[in-house]
Amino acid sequence: MLKDQVLEALRAGGQCVSGQDLCRRLGVTRAAVWKAIQALREEGYLVRSLPGRGYRLGDLPDVLNSAEILAELPASCRLRELHCFASLPSTNDLARKLAIDGAPHGTVVVSGSQTAGRGRMGRSFFSPEGGLYLSVLLRPQTYPETLLPLTAFTAVAICDAVQRLTGVRPRAKWPNDLLISGKKLCGVLTEASIEAESGAVRHVVVGIGLNLSQSTFPPELEGVATSLLLSGVPVPRRASLCASILEHLEMALRACFDESRGVYLSRYLDDCATIGQAVTQTRGDTVRRGVAESVDSSAALLVRFDDGSLEAVNSGEVTLSRP
Ligand code: BTN
Repeated sequence: MLKDQVLEALRAGGQCVSGQDLCRRLGVTRAAVWKAIQALREEGYLVRSLPGRGYRLGDLPDVLNSAEILAELPASCRLRELHCFASLPSTNDLARKLAIDGAPHGTVVVSGSQTAGRGRMGRSFFSPEGGLYLSVLLRPQTYPETLLPLTAFTAVAICDAVQRLTGVRPRAKWPNDLLISGKKLCGVLTEASIEAESGAVRHVVVGIGLNLSQSTFPPELEGVATSLLLSGVPVPRRASLCASILEHLEMALRACFDESRGVYLSRYLDDCATIGQAVTQTRGDTVRRGVAESVDSSAALLVRFDDGSLEAVNSGEVTLSRP
C-alpha cells in the first residue's frame, strides 16, 4: 500500500523528506502522496508539513499493525507472518484455526483486545484495550515431552523483552505467570495438537497476554492483577514490545528445540519467584505441604515435602502461596 511505502520513506529519511522526492521515489503524483499522508495521520501518525522543505515524522504513536512490528523486528527473525487486529475473540483460537488451515511456522496473531481471552484450566483471561495479546504458531518436528519447558522459556523471553524496553525485569510465577510487585502482569497459555497415530506434535500455539496501560481491573482481579502503568513502570509502544518479544522468543525456542537447555533453565530459576515458597499438593483427600526447591530438566517444579522427599509436581495439583 502506498501509505506504508510513504511511512517507510519518512522513517528512513530522518529529519525531512520533500514531497517531490517522495513522488519521484515512489512513482506517484503529489495528490497521491498527500492522500497517503492524510491516511497516516488518521491512523495516529504525527506527520508535520514543513513549508518549502517537505514532511517530517514526529514521535511514533502506539499503533499496533504489521508495518510497525516489522519495522522493529530483526530481518533474521522467522516469527514474522503477522496477522494484526484491533480486537478478536481470542488470538489462540485464531492461531489454532490458521494452523488447521495450513499456516506456516512463525505465524503470529496479534490483537489490541480480546472478547473471549482464555487462560489455563478453562479460565477466562481479562483482555481489555491497553494490553497486548499475541499467539505464535510453531511447527516443531518433535514429540510432546520436548514441549514441557516451553512455557517457562517463553516467560524468560518475555522478561528479556520487558526489561529491554522498560529497564524493569518482571518475576516469573511457576508455571505460567509473570509478576510485578507480586501481582500478575502477564499470563502464558501453551496449547498443542498431537497426531494420534504417531504421537508427534502437529502444531503448538504459544499465547501471551500482557497488561500494559490498563488503569483499573474488575473487583475480582483487584489486588491480584496489575499493569505496567499501575506499577509505575514506563509503558513501551505495543509494536516495539511485540517485536522484542518475538525476537527473544525465537532465542528461547532455539534453546528449547535445538540447543542445550541448561542456560535457559538456569535463567528461569533466576527469574522464578516461586522458588523458596510454600506449596500445597492436593491429590483426592490427601493434602501434603512442602517448599518449592528448584525445577527439573522439563521445568517441572521440584518440591521438598515435609517428610523430606523431593518430588516433581504437576501444575494442576498444587497451590502456591503468593510470593
Ligand atoms: C493464564 O493466565 O492462565 C494464561 C493466560 C493467557 C492469555 C493469552 S492472551 C493471548 C492468548 N489468547 C488467549 O485467548 N489466551 C492467550
